[in-house]
Amino acid sequence: MTTFWSTYISVLTIGSLIGLAWLLLSTRKGQSNSTTDQTMGHSFDGIEEYDNPLPKWWFWLFVGTLVFGAGYLVLYPGLGNWKGILPGYENGWTGANEWQKEMEKADAKFGPIFARYAAMPVEEVAKDPQALKMGGRLFASNCSVCHGSDAKGAYGFPNLTDNDWRWGGEPETIKASIMNGRHGVMPAWAEVIGEQGVADVAAFVLTNLDGRSLPEGVKADPVKGQEIFAGNCVACHGPEGKGTPAMGAPNLTHPQAFIYGSSFAQLQQTIRYGRQGQMPAQAEIQGNDKVHLLAAYVYSLSQNDAAEKLTAQ
Ligand code: HEC
Ligand code: HEC
Repeated sequence: MTTFWSTYISVLTIGSLIGLAWLLLSTRKGQSNSTTDQTMGHSFDGIEEYDNPLPKWWFWLFVGTLVFGAGYLVLYPGLGNWKGILPGYENGWTGANEWQKEMEKADAKFGPIFARYAAMPVEEVAKDPQALKMGGRLFASNCSVCHGSDAKGAYGFPNLTDNDWRWGGEPETIKASIMNGRHGVMPAWAEVIGEQGVADVAAFVLTNLDGRSLPEGVKADPVKGQEIFAGNCVACHGPEGKGTPAMGAPNLTHPQAFIYGSSFAQLQQTIRYGRQGQMPAQAEIQGNDKVHLLAAYVYSLSQNDAAEKLTAQ
């Protein structure tokens, strides 16, 4: 905070306290302490007001709040840049400091447990029930906003339980996805292949790669689409459309794993404007040991029969 704002806040706060104290004492002056039956002299619809002093309990309560306020502002940060005279608020009084202290405490307690798991290979950790429980908790608080509490993904966010990986499902690859984040870049094609080209290549993806049939009345030619695909798309999605994990280019023969939708309209939208999926890097936020547990947890999700059935479809 600049000196100007610090002074501004301090003058305003101290001024208000002094003003309130003055108001309290000045209205008390000159009043007799005993109750009177004199009225103030005004009348509102026949209702009149007695000219009585403030009740004692009320007066002292008011004095009490003023004293409390002044004491608080001396002890704790509150007046501009003043840090208070109590220790522990050198960086000001923010929720962040309290949070930081809690985190340090938790790290001291759980750090050694995390470190023990971090020394084991991800596959091994993925078999340890206690580790999976901890990984699951980390996932719930850090990842479920995007990937869903069941990790099954949502529009724009991949399913992590289905063995259908955009960047690869090896334990170390999953860990790298989480550590460093991922940025999938699908270019926009409208200007390169034109609107009809977009429809044609979308039709090719839908019919040939996905093995579905085109909706009624659609003007698109999958055969022309195949040429466009061979000329523009195979560089990333591969000659058979099975994807290139190194680029995060997904397999286009598994429409159930598409994150931007697999209808003819959605496919055209994706191809026309391109897509950019962003997985935020966790290295700085979680650190290696927690990411190791998270990787084990994510890896474990697709290592069961249910996940394999989904991929086999
Ligand atoms: C430069 C590499 C590259 C080229 C060329 C490319 N793509 Fe992509 N494509 C990607 C990447 C990477 C993604 C994933 C984007 C993301 O995750 O946000 C993607 C995503 C897609 C998706 C969406 C899949 C989903 O999960 O919803 C479709 C459909 C698609 N591409 C079709 C095509 C077609 C058709 C072409 C050719 C006209 C093409 N791509 C050319 C890299 C490429
Ligand atoms: C802000 C939303 C967001 C959050 C939070 C997030 N992710 Fe992601 N994640 C994504 C997106 C989007 C992708 C797909 C990136 C792309 O387009 O290739 C992704 C991709 C991934 C992948 C790669 C999937 C594949 O198919 O290769 C893994 C693994 C992953 N996330 C794990 C996690 C974990 C674990 C966390 C919690 C620490 C997490 N994510 C938090 C958005 C998020």
